Amino acid sequence: MIEIFAGKGLSKYKICITSGSIPKKELNKNIKKNAKVLIITDTGVPKKYINNLKDSLNNKKVLIHVIRKGENAKSFKNFQEIIKVLADFKFSRTDLVIALGGGVVGDIAGFCASTYLRGIDYIQVPTTLLSQVDSSVGGKTAINIPQGKNLVGAFYNPKLVLISSAYLETLSDKEYKSGLGEVVKYALIENKKLRNLIKEKHRLIVDRDKKILLEIIKESILTKSKIVTKDEKESGLRAILNFGHTFGHAIEAYTNYKKMSHGAAITLGMVIAAKISFFEGFLKEHQLKNSLELIDSIGLDTDHSEYRYSDLKKFIMNDKKVADGKLNLILINEKFKAFKTNMFNQNNIKKAFKN
Ligand SMILES: NC(=O)c1ccc[n+]([C@@H]2O[C@H](COP(=O)([O-])OP(=O)(O)OC[C@H]3O[C@@H](n4cnc5c(N)ncnc54)[C@H](O)[C@@H]3O)[C@@H](O)[C@H]2O)c1
Repeated sequence: MIEIFAGKGLSKYKICITSGSIPKKELNKNIKKNAKVLIITDTGVPKKYINNLKDSLNNKKVLIHVIRKGENAKSFKNFQEIIKVLADFKFSRTDLVIALGGGVVGDIAGFCASTYLRGIDYIQVPTTLLSQVDSSVGGKTAINIPQGKNLVGAFYNPKLVLISSAYLETLSDKEYKSGLGEVVKYALIENKKLRNLIKEKHRLIVDRDKKILLEIIKESILTKSKIVTKDEKESGLRAILNFGHTFGHAIEAYTNYKKMSHGAAITLGMVIAAKISFFEGFLKEHQLKNSLELIDSIGLDTDHSEYRYSDLKKFIMNDKKVADGKLNLILINEKFKAFKTNMFNQNNIKKAFKN
């Protein structure tokens, strides 16, 4: 089992990664003996995972709350319903919530835990690749409101994160690729080992080889945990994790969040951001070519030709990274280090869309 730590001081937490079943001892060590436990999951998570998790707990009082799968489940209504369950069953500060599922479950379960009684403990058991390499680590919790995604939330670290790559066996191709998009992101913004792993083992990655999955999850989390621990509340460095997101979010918004997965949109966003990095002179031509080949080698689409800058512009300028009317971009340099800048030639954005 691989162990990584994230967070600082009292909110430091352990992330355990295994290719087998989740470690029972570690799980129970982090839950008080007589505590009540609420497992929050969704309708898309295979039932066997829910039953196995329940069976792994030494606790007698275990409740299961299943929300409908999909992004719409991160709603105020579901938040209220979960809080009602916690209150009706008289959960106290010594009781605990477990999020078993993808980023949707993790985000809403974490937000409920952060607000109920001003905060009770929660454990993340992420079951999608995206949640394993990204959303379960970093303490961002949220729900959506009609005005926008993730507009209500809190920074609230989990007590523990338990990851098993075995959960990924049942994941659809679309969801698997969505997670791979984030893996490539860590490779391009910082992690050389991950770049080499993808270059050399792309076939095994596509085939979901258990050993290689363990490696890519570990390397992704090493990068994510390092960044979020240095900048817990997104006051600076953490912005580099948004590489590709300005354009990816614009594509998602332009297509009404219906056409493609988050990861697929972010991947196209990364392609555009890498091209801008090249046009700005930060990346060499062969490095851009290698980056695009890396993305392509694990079956991710790099073709953004159907999206025009003129159509996406208003969504791009809606980005959180627009300050004083100036767009901040996350670009990469020739050492594959990401950085934030608002000093760039606007024409290079248009050029990146065209080429
Ligand atoms: N908190 C953060 O830092 C952070 C970071 C990135 C994304 N997010 C959020 O994460 C969400 C997306 O997460 P996601 O991509 O995991 O999507 P998701 O949670 O919607 O899961 C995708 C689908 O896979 C199903 N599923 C889950 N585990 C499965 C398994 N093992 N086998 C088969 N099916 C399974 C789910 O039921 C769902 O239908 C978004 O709401 C996004 O805002 C949060």
